[in-house]
Amino acid sequence: MNDRDFVVVVLGGYGNFGQVIVQRLSSIAGIRVWVAGRDLAKAEALAQQTGSQAVRLDINQTDLGQRLRELGTHLVISTAGPFQRQDYRVAKAAIAAGAHYIDLADARAFVCGIDELDEAARKAGVLVCSGASSVPALSAAVVDHLLPQFSQLHSIWHGISSSEKTPGVSTLAGVLDYCGKPIRQWREGAWQTVHGWQELSAHDFPAPQGKRWVINCDIPDLQLFPARYPGVRSVRFSAGVGLRATQFGTWLLSWLVRGGLLRSAVPLAAFLRKGAVLLEPFGDGISGMFVRLQGLDLSGNALQRVWELQALNNDGPNIPCMAAVALARKLAAGTQAERGAMPCIGLLDLQEYLSELEGLAITTAER
Ligand SMILES: NC(=O)c1ccc[n+]([C@@H]2O[C@H](COP(=O)([O-])OP(=O)(O)OC[C@H]3O[C@@H](n4cnc5c(N)ncnc54)[C@H](OP(=O)(O)O)[C@@H]3O)[C@@H](O)[C@H]2O)c1
Repeated sequence: MNDRDFVVVVLGGYGNFGQVIVQRLSSIAGIRVWVAGRDLAKAEALAQQTGSQAVRLDINQTDLGQRLRELGTHLVISTAGPFQRQDYRVAKAAIAAGAHYIDLADARAFVCGIDELDEAARKAGVLVCSGASSVPALSAAVVDHLLPQFSQLHSIWHGISSSEKTPGVSTLAGVLDYCGKPIRQWREGAWQTVHGWQELSAHDFPAPQGKRWVINCDIPDLQLFPARYPGVRSVRFSAGVGLRATQFGTWLLSWLVRGGLLRSAVPLAAFLRKGAVLLEPFGDGISGMFVRLQGLDLSGNALQRVWELQALNNDGPNIPCMAAVALARKLAAGTQAERGAMPCIGLLDLQEYLSELEGLAITTAER
């Protein structure tokens, strides 16, 4: 460690995804990591394991900006969700401390509204980016990669089917927020209302994963993609889990909310997480992501391209973490010149994202 190190504070650093980010960043020469959260003992345990440092920080503390400055922070990475009902206090604290800010948010309004901090971020000369994760960072990188094959893009349907490995309670609380609730989706060239965790559909992944069931989710892509890809008439995102019992259970839960028998599924997050952990031994450790584009090729003929990712041995949970890692690497190296506040699209190309996954049991293919 020396004074020239690039200092990264990972908020939620000992959480499910935070610890993957901490482990990876701690192994990069020239990067020094603070593991941060409300539980100092947990932060210290991981810091000791990874050769990083620990600090107690609460995203709600009023002197957060001051504390970040004292720690010599160059970059704040926030995994401290759920982001669905958060304001931008962490990003503002980072800007006040003159530090870059990256979060893993999957909350549509939160990610899409981050550009309200653009002027402040530019003035401070920092990058503020929201949604540095599977969606929209990886999903947009895949669409951008496939796009040159199309003269016209008509529809985007993408999705994720995770393995049985249960995410943290903040991820669950985030996705339960729109369970059974109305969602706006761009369909046939108009905004339409569908419902979260409904519209059960299947995607056939190549072997060994096979058929997986997925349902509607409310993510930033639903709003960002119709603007980013002019002319596209439908944008749909679905997600699910490999275990059918869990998958169909969540689908049934959405009917309880939609039917008014349950006001919100969010209070059930911790309880449902415990149930999902008990079912983990029945899983196959495989997760996958698909991006299916339809439109016209360069000669005007109908074209469908499907990009798929498959992760074995429960390596899937590394995927949402690698946008933050890739961006931190570029910021530390001085090769990420973009400044201002924006959703995390177009900042990483597909190759930059996938190169962070090398060495894991993760493959991608196009058909
Ligand atoms: N965009 C995407 O594609 C995508 C995909 C998956 C997940 N995600 C996002 O990733 C986030 C993290 O998921 P996860 O599974 O890692 O959740 P998790 O295990 O619950 O981790 C959340 C972490 O935040 C910390 N935290 C919570 N409240 C805090 C506060 N007030 N101050 C400081 N730290 C606080 C928690 O520690 P303490 O409670 O001890 O403080 C915990 O370490 C989710 O919220 C989700 O939005 C995004």
